[in-house]
Amino acid sequence: MNEQYAAQMAGDEQLRRQAGELFLRSCEYRYSYNFTWLGVPIIQYPQDIVAMQEIIWTVQPDLIIETGIAHGGSLILHASLLELLGGDGLVLGVDIDIRRANREVIERHPLAKRIRMLEGSSISSEIIGQVRDFAVGRKRVLVSLDSNHTHQHVLAELNAYAPLVTRGSYLVVFDTVVEDMPKSFFPDRPWGPGDNPKTAVREFLKYTDRFEVDHLLENKLLLTVAPEGYLKCLKD
Ligand SMILES: C[S@@+](CC[C@H](N)C(=O)[O-])C[C@H]1O[C@@H](n2cnc3c(N)ncnc32)[C@H](O)[C@@H]1O
Repeated sequence: MNEQYAAQMAGDEQLRRQAGELFLRSCEYRYSYNFTWLGVPIIQYPQDIVAMQEIIWTVQPDLIIETGIAHGGSLILHASLLELLGGDGLVLGVDIDIRRANREVIERHPLAKRIRMLEGSSISSEIIGQVRDFAVGRKRVLVSLDSNHTHQHVLAELNAYAPLVTRGSYLVVFDTVVEDMPKSFFPDRPWGPGDNPKTAVREFLKYTDRFEVDHLLENKLLLTVAPEGYLKCLKD
């Protein structure tokens, strides 16, 4: 990576403002719904998909825990990268509502052997217990949070799942960008500016020194739904 240019770009206020405007305009057309990964819809921006690829290659996780499955594209993305790494890595997905059609697509996919799914709220004690049991014995654990985007929910997820993340790995919190968007973008959602994943991350980071925001990563992306959401785990 060209760190010098990435750092200069991060300091280019005009470009950052233009990128913010481009991001907001793209949301008007539901841009994040435009893509598939190996045939399965993934609700992400391409920049964040590339970031996850870089993280997964660097960390070489043997377990990726993700909350928020939807159609399953991010499960398939992570499973495909684990497959390329070799080894016995698995993805464990949690969703409160795994639609039958989505489950069938995921279970029939060539990468299904790398995927396990749990249905239930990611912050219920039952699901948290099952995820913890699943993580026992795993050496490099990465967590990605992309479910309900309210402050309270994400903070509860952070408290439940952060202890499972291993040193050198990442805790990735998606849709922190909600904090930087106008309230009018979320007329029918319980989250919005002031109540979203970024406010939860900021609260979480007040009480831990195990994680820090990977600003280098987010700065080079320029467009991301996870500003301040790529958290690197510094300690056991
Ligand atoms: C933004 S989508 C996930 C997108 C997916 N990660 C991707 O990249 O394609 C959010 C998902 O979170 C799920 N969800 C909402 N509340 C939840 C909760 N309390 N626990 C677990 N999943 C939840 C929804 O059912 C929905 O499928």
